[in-house]
Amino acid sequence: MTQVEATAPGKVILVGEHAVVYGRPAIAVPVRERVARATIRETGTGCVLAVLDLGRELRLMDAGDDEALAVVARATLARLGLPPNPGWRVELSSAIPIASGMGSGAALSAALVRAIYAQAGVTPDPAVVSELVFGGELLYHGTPSGIDNTVVAYDRPVWFVNGSPPEVFTPGAPFLLAIGDSGVPSSTRAMVDGVRRRHTADPTHYDAWFDEIASLVLAARTAIETGETARLGPLFDRNHSLLAQMGVSTPLLDRLIEVARAAGAAGAKLSGGGGGGNLIALVDEVTAPAVVAALQAAGAVRVLVTAVAA
Ligand code: MEV
Repeated sequence: MTQVEATAPGKVILVGEHAVVYGRPAIAVPVRERVARATIRETGTGCVLAVLDLGRELRLMDAGDDEALAVVARATLARLGLPPNPGWRVELSSAIPIASGMGSGAALSAALVRAIYAQAGVTPDPAVVSELVFGGELLYHGTPSGIDNTVVAYDRPVWFVNGSPPEVFTPGAPFLLAIGDSGVPSSTRAMVDGVRRRHTADPTHYDAWFDEIASLVLAARTAIETGETARLGPLFDRNHSLLAQMGVSTPLLDRLIEVARAAGAAGAKLSGGGGGGNLIALVDEVTAPAVVAALQAAGAVRVLVTAVAA
């Protein structure tokens, strides 16, 4: 029996989360050490989406318009001019922790889109994958900026400004990040809503913080492109302070970030929506083992080291 398979990576936001919702730039990178996977087998009996990690099966014909994966599957089938209920079993699984800021939902959707394209024998343009995945992100996150679908669809470091075509760019030298999961699930939607309420109540401070974040995102891009990645450390630290002022950090994230710095990280910050989820710490071959061990000892539930490269 023929079977097609496709994957999509996790992601982390390096700098610029939240401010990106307000038109400022952000940088995100794929995390290729953790992927989501979609496989399609022909069964001839109507389309079933089996979400293995959740033990859920959705019949595409019956699934509501609030089911992100069904929405993405329907839009992809329509885009390719395929029948709306093909005789397929689509199995979806992910090694990306959910609700941790690593883009698990976007990656599952991207793997699904790519698998449907592969089944049709068509190579998708990353811009089309990104657009189709965005339809699912709207359901997961309410008012997403579009950065998550972009980075998982392009599978490259991206410079992202809402409303402009994303720019993929190439690090002048690879660098290492330790990604620590605080173990506290968090809703990006709730965190974005909270920032919106506080921004509405106090636009002067929030706009100034967003502007400062924009300038440090630009400095981060220069540091990455020139290979002077040590310069990222202080930029991470400052970005974290601003995110904490915006009310999206937590005492646990702050503590884990302090622990990473004390163990030798050149800088550290929360990554993604905050309120739980992940932190990232800038490490190198020498500091990585101590930072990983210190984060684990301080209670991070998962720590992985990812290499950021072209
Ligand atoms: C979530 O990964 C990043 C946020 O900036 C939300 C968004 O950009 O949609 C918090």
